[in-house]
Amino acid sequence: MKYNFDAVISREGTGSMKWDTIETVFGNKEILPMWVADMDFPVAEPIIDAVKKRLEHPILGYTKPWKSLLESVVERMKKKFNWEIKPEWIVFTPGVVPAISTAIKAITHPGDEVVLQGPVYYPFWDVIRENGCHVSNNTLKFENGKYVMDYEDLEKKFSPKKALFPKPPRTKAAILCNPHNPVGRMWDKEEQIKFGEIVLKHGGVVISDEIHSEIVVSNKKHIPFASISKEFEQNSITCFSPSKTFNIAGLSVSSIIIPNKKLREGFISAAGHQLGKVSVLSLVAMEAAYRYGDEWLNELLEYLKGNLQFLMNYFEENIPEVKVIRPEGTYLVWLDFHALGMSGEELSKFLVEKAKVGLDDGYLFGPSGNGFARINIACPRETLKEGLKRIESAVKDLR
Ligand SMILES: Cc1ncc(COP(=O)(O)O)c(C=O)c1O
Repeated sequence: MKYNFDAVISREGTGSMKWDTIETVFGNKEILPMWVADMDFPVAEPIIDAVKKRLEHPILGYTKPWKSLLESVVERMKKKFNWEIKPEWIVFTPGVVPAISTAIKAITHPGDEVVLQGPVYYPFWDVIRENGCHVSNNTLKFENGKYVMDYEDLEKKFSPKKALFPKPPRTKAAILCNPHNPVGRMWDKEEQIKFGEIVLKHGGVVISDEIHSEIVVSNKKHIPFASISKEFEQNSITCFSPSKTFNIAGLSVSSIIIPNKKLREGFISAAGHQLGKVSVLSLVAMEAAYRYGDEWLNELLEYLKGNLQFLMNYFEENIPEVKVIRPEGTYLVWLDFHALGMSGEELSKFLVEKAKVGLDDGYLFGPSGNGFARINIACPRETLKEGLKRIESAVKDLR
């Protein structure tokens, strides 16, 4: 291994959302934070070097995405996912969440409905509502130890509701989270086809959040929704970013791929002057990550797989009350605490006050997340071990 992921590097005092807000968020500075979805690992050298090199030029004026940058995104999609895209399909935005909000604004009118699949990344709920739309929750089912989609319910979400005078449905879009945060599923091709066919049959657009697509901790392969068919390509907005993969979330950069010209123009027009521009240093980092970051990424994925196995073994051997939902993708793990018999609020209090760990409360991800919590395992193994020990000791006290 060239990179040392075991090194514990203090992030305190760096403006870190995870490490510098502990007392504000949890009311106790002894909490070990394992919530915000970024990594406690240093960024790959080639990315740091590229940013430093750009800073050797003393002018940091307004920036227009350049040819080799666009090509690096095109090549990444081809190399990683065998998806052939055109440079003109790419829109750079300062984040995936603002892009999803913009996509909703472009596709819907206030009062429309947008589908999501709870339990799911909590800002999805917010951006739908912030655009004056209603959340239509196509709750995932848990079957045979695995989260799966409920197609029957999805069909209903796009159909007229039973009423004396049924009105035409106002469901305009569905957000696909792939890999899914927090349940870690990487959706199979067949699952995505069934999902896409239902949404498209009813004239809906798929907003596919694929921000975690390169964090694969299983032997699965990520399949971009839009790469499955021309029809899917033309009726979707796909959100990619190097931010999770290369730990550069603080640089706020993402590439939104919109093959359909009308949809793309609608997106750009909805963005108006509100979305803002992406900084030149972020774009430099993105190109460097895509071109020169793979050695680091391959080592990272091995380390994350090691962390995941460590966590799986730890729970099985020491905290069997807690059921682990093994993720296929992402460095986030969904933990089922139902056996402790606590309400969501009680569990939240227990984790903070007794275990002294800062996880994400499951209910934040939707009603079906109640009784769960999400842990971030993208940290040195020693930090992970410390978090697990704290949970173990708190659970022991309950026995
Ligand atoms: C599924 C998903 N989408 C989007 C984001 C955040 O994206 P951004 O910081 O680019 O807005 C996250 C971060 O955790 C996420 O898990």
